[in-house]
Amino acid sequence: MKKDEKKYVALVTGATGGLGTAMVKHLVDDGYLVIANYHTRAKADKWNEKMKAEGYDVPLYYADVSDFNSVGEMIEKIQKDIGTVDILVNNAGITRDGAFRKMTFENWDAVIRTNLYSAFNCCRHVINPMIDQQYGRIINISSVNGQRAQFGQANYAAAKAGMHGLTKTLAIEVASKGITVNTISPGYIGTDMVMAVAEEIREQIIKTIPAGRLGGTYEIAHRVSFLASKDAAFITGANYCINGGQHVF
Ligand code: CAA
Repeated sequence: MKKDEKKYVALVTGATGGLGTAMVKHLVDDGYLVIANYHTRAKADKWNEKMKAEGYDVPLYYADVSDFNSVGEMIEKIQKDIGTVDILVNNAGITRDGAFRKMTFENWDAVIRTNLYSAFNCCRHVINPMIDQQYGRIINISSVNGQRAQFGQANYAAAKAGMHGLTKTLAIEVASKGITVNTISPGYIGTDMVMAVAEEIREQIIKTIPAGRLGGTYEIAHRVSFLASKDAAFITGANYCINGGQHVF
């Protein structure tokens, strides 16, 4: 971003997680005014302290992204305190892995709400202000497991696959308004979420990645920052697969 340009406002949901943190840092380093959405106060306080120690002073805003009204309240506050969200990164997500025959309704519901409804809730609340200003960038963080099958992830795969339908449809609806909507599908990245998979299962999974390793959070954040830029204006409805060759098609 050039120095004389307006500071674009970027909201990252689930900012206190592994991927979110890397995205926040990259966007701040690239000159954006970044807002970090969080869900758990105690985790956010710890995160904030650590980020400040590293030189990142980022405003934190609470919302339960699975709740339409909670997101609405957050966006209203941001609008009042800072202004219109120019860039939205739908990054918040959870896993509740388990074989489908044992999957509880609660684990299905929690994942669909947190990983898919969240994208609707956030997009719906930012889209009209973006249309009003004829500018916006929406980046939905899906997963390699929304593109292929993964044992134990029927809920997660359904939600992440759903994100593609939302991305593509919204992309064509707002393409003439200066707004782009894209998806990034990370493979297995070295975050707490992936490290929570039992070690021997994780080792088996890594063997299926031709690059021979887990991805780095920076490798996803870098692509987010590019899609957030003005230069990415002609890229919309696209999906970036960043998975070390684990799923090529
Ligand atoms: N393929 C085929 N069969 C399998 C299997 C596999 N990968 N894993 C287990 N099974 C079989 C078991 O042998 C067992 O068979 P029997 O009933 O005949 O004994 C049956 O399936 C049920 O096994 P479990 O009781 O172990 O199943 P579970 O409900 O406890 O679930 C699991 C196991 C927790 C899902 C475990 O397999 C696992 O952790 N898998 C990895 C899931 C994964 O990749 N998660 C990604 C998290 S990170 C992320 O999501 C980020 C991202 O975007 C990539």
